[in-house]
This record gives sequence, structure tokens and C-alpha cells, in this order.
Amino acid sequence: MSKYSGREGAVTLATILRRKGDGRKLSMVTCYDAAFARLVDLSGVDMVLVGDSLGNVMLGHDSTIPVRLDDMIHHSAAVARVLTRAFLVVDMPFMACQVSVEQALTNCARVMQEGGAQAVKIEGGGAVLPQIRALVAAGIPVMGHLGLTPQSVHALGGYRVQGRTDAVRRQLLEDAVALEAAGVFSLVLEMVPTDLAAEVAQKLKIPVIGIGAGAGTDGQVLVLQDLLGFDESFNPKFLKKYANLGKAVRDALDAFDRDVKSGAFPDASHSFAE
Ligand code: KIV
Repeated sequence: MSKYSGREGAVTLATILRRKGDGRKLSMVTCYDAAFARLVDLSGVDMVLVGDSLGNVMLGHDSTIPVRLDDMIHHSAAVARVLTRAFLVVDMPFMACQVSVEQALTNCARVMQEGGAQAVKIEGGGAVLPQIRALVAAGIPVMGHLGLTPQSVHALGGYRVQGRTDAVRRQLLEDAVALEAAGVFSLVLEMVPTDLAAEVAQKLKIPVIGIGAGAGTDGQVLVLQDLLGFDESFNPKFLKKYANLGKAVRDALDAFDRDVKSGAFPDASHSFAE
């Protein structure tokens, strides 16, 4: 695949690290299938994240907790088959790295080998530092994820902004510095106040990617279906919708349904002569 053969224009780990210094922001979107991966790859978006948000978006769960390692590999492999330019990061799902260093190495190896990932993303701070050190030593690029970490939704008491108290703020800063020291190449900050995210981005030498973390980070990530406006009822403050595909898809389906029922489709132009 081109991403491994150094094709010109392909986003690499080196490209991502360089961006921290050159002031050009990084863009990342989630993606879970080949059809959308082809379109993302044709855009200028730098990184694709096969996020465990696929539990909500693709599998109909109400959290990311039920997502299994095999689900991540299945969706990642579909994306990896068609990506030729964007850099592919894959989420490690709930408890796939938390049990031990050995478990993390084994599971991340599967995500790289069977899922075609170029890097993995792991939620959390202190508890996963030994795992991250071992993965980085084994040559696996790791992206960290702090702030609102959805796999800990029950411990956090819901999907809410993190880092509003001095204690949580201090802990987040400490975890960010520790993750960088452990070797993560980048860090996602989700749902944290703008000034805290900016402080982390200024402190770290690696790119910090925000979602609901304001404009002071080195890049932004959004869930693809959210930015495309699939769900008209989902309108969190941090989300900007760049299209209204939910309505476009419903309109197209209603038009098809009407045409079938009225006999307008198929007409001669969509039918085969003998
Ligand atoms: O799973 C996901 O989509 C994520 C992003 C929100 C960063 O982790």
C-alpha cells in the first residue's frame, strides 16, 4: 500500500510532528468504512481516526463501552484497504490495553497487522503509561487521549466538560506531560476549557488535537457523520456542521420511493433494450 511505500503526498508520522513547529494546523476526522475513507482520502484532511465512536455511529450502541477489539479491526481493515494518503490512527477499545503491558502489545499488534493501522490511540493517563512506553519501544506510534475519555463515561458521571476544577486541571496537565514523556506522538484533548487546552498545547512539543477544546490546539478532530450533519437532533456546542446530509439522504430516499410507487422509475433511459 502506498502509505507504507512513502508515496509522495502521503501524510507520515514525520509530517504530523513537523506541523507542531511550522504553525500549520492538523485536521483529523473519524471514518469507519471504505466508502467514506475514499472520499476523506481525496480531501486535504491529514488523519483518519477509526474511533471507537463507531459503537454509537455504526453499531447503534449508546456508548463506546460495548465495542470489541474485533469490531475495531473489522472497520479499520476496511478503511486501510482504500486509504492512500491520509494517516490512519485506530482507537484501542474499552479495556483492550488496561490489563497488562503484554495484553496491550498483543492487542495493538493485531490492530496494526490485521487492521492496517499506522498508529493506535489509547484513552487515559497514569494507568496506561507502562503500556505506552512498551508500545513505543516496540515501534508502535501511540496517540494519547485526555479530558473527556468516553470509555470512562460512568466514572466521569456523564459526557461533560472536564478540567473545570483546579484539581482536575492539575491532573490533566500532569497526565499530558507524563504521556509526552512516555512517547506519545500526539494527544487528543476532548471537552476541556479553551485556556486549559491552549496551556497544554503550549507546554508540549507534540501536536495537541482538540475536540470541544477551543482554538488554541495544534489541530481539530470531529466525528465525520457529525460534521456532515447526519443527525439533525445532535447539536452539541462544539460541533460545526459542514453539510446537512441527514436531510439530503431522507429527501433522496423519499424521491426514490415516490418514483417506484408512481412508476416513474425505471424509465426507458434506465432500462435495457433487447
Ligand atoms: O472515538 C472517537 O471518535 C474519538 C474522537 C472523538 C476523538 O475518540
